[in-house]
Amino acid sequence: MGGRNRAYQLLKTISSATCQCPAHSSGWSEMKHSSTKAAKSTDYAFEMACSTVRYGPGVTKEIGMDLQSMGAKNVMVVTDKTLSQLPPVKLVAESLSGHNVNFTVFDNVRVEPTDTSFKEAIDFAKNGRFDAYIAVGGGSVIDTCKAANLYASDPEADFLDYVNAPIGKGKPVFVKLSPLIAVPTTAGTGSETTGVAIFDYEPLKAKTGIANRALRPTLGIIDPLHTLLMPEKVAAYSGFDVLCHALESYTAIPYYDRSPCPENPAARPAYQGSNPISDVWSIHALGVLAKYFKRSVYNPDDLEARSKMHLASTFAGVGFGNAGVHLCHGMSYPIAGNVKNFHPVDYEVKHAIIPHGLSVVMTAPAVFQFTSGMNPERHLEAAEILGKDVTNVKREDAGLVLADVLREYMHTMKVDNGLGALGYTADDIPDLVKGTLPQHRVTKLAPREQSEEDLALLFENSMKVY
Ligand SMILES: NC(=O)c1ccc[n+]([C@@H]2O[C@H](COP(=O)([O-])OP(=O)(O)OC[C@H]3O[C@@H](n4cnc5c(N)ncnc54)[C@H](O)[C@@H]3O)[C@@H](O)[C@H]2O)c1
Ligand SMILES: [Fe+2]
Repeated sequence: MGGRNRAYQLLKTISSATCQCPAHSSGWSEMKHSSTKAAKSTDYAFEMACSTVRYGPGVTKEIGMDLQSMGAKNVMVVTDKTLSQLPPVKLVAESLSGHNVNFTVFDNVRVEPTDTSFKEAIDFAKNGRFDAYIAVGGGSVIDTCKAANLYASDPEADFLDYVNAPIGKGKPVFVKLSPLIAVPTTAGTGSETTGVAIFDYEPLKAKTGIANRALRPTLGIIDPLHTLLMPEKVAAYSGFDVLCHALESYTAIPYYDRSPCPENPAARPAYQGSNPISDVWSIHALGVLAKYFKRSVYNPDDLEARSKMHLASTFAGVGFGNAGVHLCHGMSYPIAGNVKNFHPVDYEVKHAIIPHGLSVVMTAPAVFQFTSGMNPERHLEAAEILGKDVTNVKREDAGLVLADVLREYMHTMKVDNGLGALGYTADDIPDLVKGTLPQHRVTKLAPREQSEEDLALLFENSMKVY
């Protein structure tokens, strides 16, 4: 080993063994994180990426000027059938027309998109030869728009080329994408800030996605007035998505325990593990949820509460978009993909779906009870921020306490009683486990490793929540 390399390895070992930075001094020392492991194969750096965001009630009206300044001549506006009839899309159309920007609306986004529905939008984008994209809607719309932009920018690519390995090839993105402006209308996914596009891969009956920083929108226009239109259940389920983004990213393994360490920074994944900067965003989002989640669900006209939740969704998006999520999300992908006959109230769709936030939160009490032993401090801290008095709680009870807090939130928002209420029985567990196993990108970020038996038990423990 050359002298320079040896010095570098030594520094790396010393820094992970003695560092006093927030990431190393907030409970993770409890983990079996060893300096030897860090020196060998784990990462030593993290990177923050986020879209530019613009916030303000009514700010949607500026979008025509943005497109005009970009010199856009032919814009694809992506939305779904419900939103195409609502003010957010009308306001975008008026602003574009007012600034003489040509556009075409594609409103056939599937709520909870699939590979088939992604491909329809991609074909539309390829045929339209658009030079800019606008997504007006929730995560389903924004993710579909990201995929349309990506594959229209690389028309020769096979669909699975960019899909996460091991389901797809997980190729890096070297083509230049067109500008994309996201106008989120739910307070949930944070997709306006992330380089992630999620879809249900029908052959596998589980969700997967495309994850690359290149997919990040150029600009996120966060106009809280749009969220006043959300029906109760859309507000509740998308709010639980925010809650799980924040909790999972805060409890994910630290970035310096994630392996492999990339040889080229371009290969460092978007989901890097918890890190001191993501922590700030995730923790802040939890505080906002504690104060405004219930108010925003039950008072649709409460502009303050809905605005705060809209921002919380962005905060958590920046947090998890750089740290990642873990088991609740990894297990939600087959829960959504194997849907039987569940038709949620307030979702104007004909097909059976388990809305994303609902599929995610169903396993949350079981998951955090399972992971808490690896880092009780962070689990307790989260429970405290969410409103629990943890003064006399023992560290070994951290998981129980956080699970109880989550159950209280679920009960308050009238969430159905577990996977059983969504139509699942014990006979479905093998399929649910099978659909979770390929979700390495997220499940490996969980602070505790899981065997197939562990996963089966987590699903079993989530059949009933209360
Ligand atoms: N890319 C990411 O980073 C990321 C993160 C989390 C989730 N997701 C994905 O996002 C999708 C879920 O997105 P979502 O929860 O935002 O909901 P959604 O986009 O699926 O929309 C849910 C329903 O609410 C309606 N709706 C949306 N906004 C409305 C409004 N303001 N008023 C009235 N109705 C409205 C829609 O028409 C739809 O019927 C899932 O596919 C999920 O996997 C992506
Ligand atoms: Fe999510």
